[in-house]
Amino acid sequence: IWVGVLTWRQSSMGATDHVSAIVLGRCLTYTRNMHPELRNQDCKKILNTFTSAFVSKDPCNITKEDYQPLIDLVTQTVPCNKTLFWSRSKELAHQYSGIQKEMFTLEDTLLGYIADNLVWCGDPRTSEVKEEFCPYRNENCSSTATSVFWTVVSQKFAESACGTVYVMLNGSRTTAFSKASTFGSVEVFNLHPDRVHTLHAWVMHDIGGVERDSCLGSSIKELKSIVNQRNISFFCQDDYRPARFVQCVRHPEHPSCSVLM
Ligand code: APR
Repeated sequence: IWVGVLTWRQSSMGATDHVSAIVLGRCLTYTRNMHPELRNQDCKKILNTFTSAFVSKDPCNITKEDYQPLIDLVTQTVPCNKTLFWSRSKELAHQYSGIQKEMFTLEDTLLGYIADNLVWCGDPRTSEVKEEFCPYRNENCSSTATSVFWTVVSQKFAESACGTVYVMLNGSRTTAFSKASTFGSVEVFNLHPDRVHTLHAWVMHDIGGVERDSCLGSSIKELKSIVNQRNISFFCQDDYRPARFVQCVRHPEHPSCSVLM
């Protein structure tokens, strides 16, 4: 019995309690408080459209089409030159866009904001949003209600980008760029070359951490080649200064944080 419980535990993860209430609350905060220009958005309708995508369905069999009504309902344009993608650098990217308010990560848009860090799914046997366990993504469950959502909204976010776009990558990882990431598998391939002329990568290193990869490494060469093949120019900068300054708040004495560096 004990082994059975362990297997079950390993294949499922905690769903977020009160997902519907959180999504509604975040939607109201975002549209009434943070972005009053979106105050005419109907948050109850957004919540219903969101939950309709996955309730009463097998969480391992959700399709992109299930979320299409939500994508069609919530239209928000990010100004050209203000899109910031990230991969393995979520915290710093959000700290940076939180200060540099004109930049938008996906989670600074309404759809990303309402779902950030939540885990949700439905169940074919009920019409409720599950409050206990949702299946993990694994060989028996290749996509989940949550993972399909991020793929769909990431695709839409990339498709609507224009001008110069930016990506923050993590050079303290062995590979700063990974083709398996959402950025590397979805976003890069959904940039429209007729609208996006340049991708600018910032490879950031943890202060006091190891520098495993950089703009000179092979993973960035691979990214450059993919981007150039799509007729988009590519530039890369290690430790982009304005983002470095954000890291320096926690490490003011580090040599790389002094004005002379
Ligand atoms: N909250 C919870 N999970 C998320 C979120 C989020 N805000 N954003 C993405 N995810 C999921 C995705 O399924 C993603 O694969 O967690 C994973 C984060 O993985 P990373 O390897 O750090 O980065 P990456 O896979 O490249 O995804 C981040 O995709 O969501 C977009 O615009 C976003 O550019 C960003 C990239």
